[in-house]
Amino acid sequence: MTDVAIVGGGVIGLSIALRCAKRGLGVAVHDPAPGSGASTVAAGMLAPVTEAHYGEEALTSLALASLALWPAFAAELGLGDAYTEHGTLLVALDHGDRAELDRQHGFYARLGLASHRLTGGEARALEPLLSTRVRGGVHAPGDHQADPRRLHAALLDACRAAGVAFVPAAVTDPSTLDADRVVVCTGARDLLGLPVRPVHGQVLRLRGPAELRLTVRGIVGGRSVYVVPRPDGEVVVGASSAERGFDTAPRAGDAYELLRDALDVLPELAEYELREVRAGLRPGTPDNAPILGRTADPRVIAATGHYRNGVLLAPVTAELITALVVTGEEPSALQPFHPRRFQ
Ligand code: GLY
Repeated sequence: MTDVAIVGGGVIGLSIALRCAKRGLGVAVHDPAPGSGASTVAAGMLAPVTEAHYGEEALTSLALASLALWPAFAAELGLGDAYTEHGTLLVALDHGDRAELDRQHGFYARLGLASHRLTGGEARALEPLLSTRVRGGVHAPGDHQADPRRLHAALLDACRAAGVAFVPAAVTDPSTLDADRVVVCTGARDLLGLPVRPVHGQVLRLRGPAELRLTVRGIVGGRSVYVVPRPDGEVVVGASSAERGFDTAPRAGDAYELLRDALDVLPELAEYELREVRAGLRPGTPDNAPILGRTADPRVIAATGHYRNGVLLAPVTAELITALVVTGEEPSALQPFHPRRFQ
């Protein structure tokens, strides 16, 4: 019997596995193909500000707490330039989109989140590749990014080095696992009867001459698009959002809309090489916040439902769930995210 069985070897499962192993616990991760889910499709925005939404203030607080843990998390994993702190620029083109930009900026200001309203010229001074059609922007200097593929690979290496065992088998009933505690981190594939649903998100991966530095988010005709540049020249363009069950096939229409909107904001991307089109399943929940804590079976702990923020929330999820595993007590920070809130 092991101390902790983790079901799911994505970024959340491995982050918890690593933290538990470093606290001296025996840990086994059960997953037939670690990293085959949303973790390696995600763009990797660490964006508590530009992902903040009205009515989700508890989630924003958790996201800010996790962002504060990110520098040490990245250093511990040796991520190097797979974690960058270049900030995010939110931009708008026409009159209606600028009104939405102002609304979002006002909301960030009311929450006390660092963001600065810019003219189109000021936005282009920060990111010269922006279209001359960009008429306004908001700079969120604290919204960063990490490469989820390099993160997942680094977590695998760190878990192996810390003695985590890997069991390459699918689990259908977590309560049957022979462990003191079982932590279920299966993302959109719910095994616990929780209200988690799959939300299809499509992203494109381009490659170009590494001219872009900031993450750029565009509001284009009322739609959202984001462009996340890596220091090595990879550029991730995302993301669609649709409910199609467990279908992960990418759609031509989604690719068309993403490219059209991204090129409206950054026309130079038209010359970049199109490398990859993929879709993943965000684990959506009724209030868009993760589900973290003990289930009806006190031996079984949920760490799922991270929806649009799995990469960002990995370090804080790992800290809080490991504290619960080690002490048997639920940290107060878990209260807003407890599975009981849906009863
Ligand atoms: N966090 C961005 C997305 O889910 O598309």
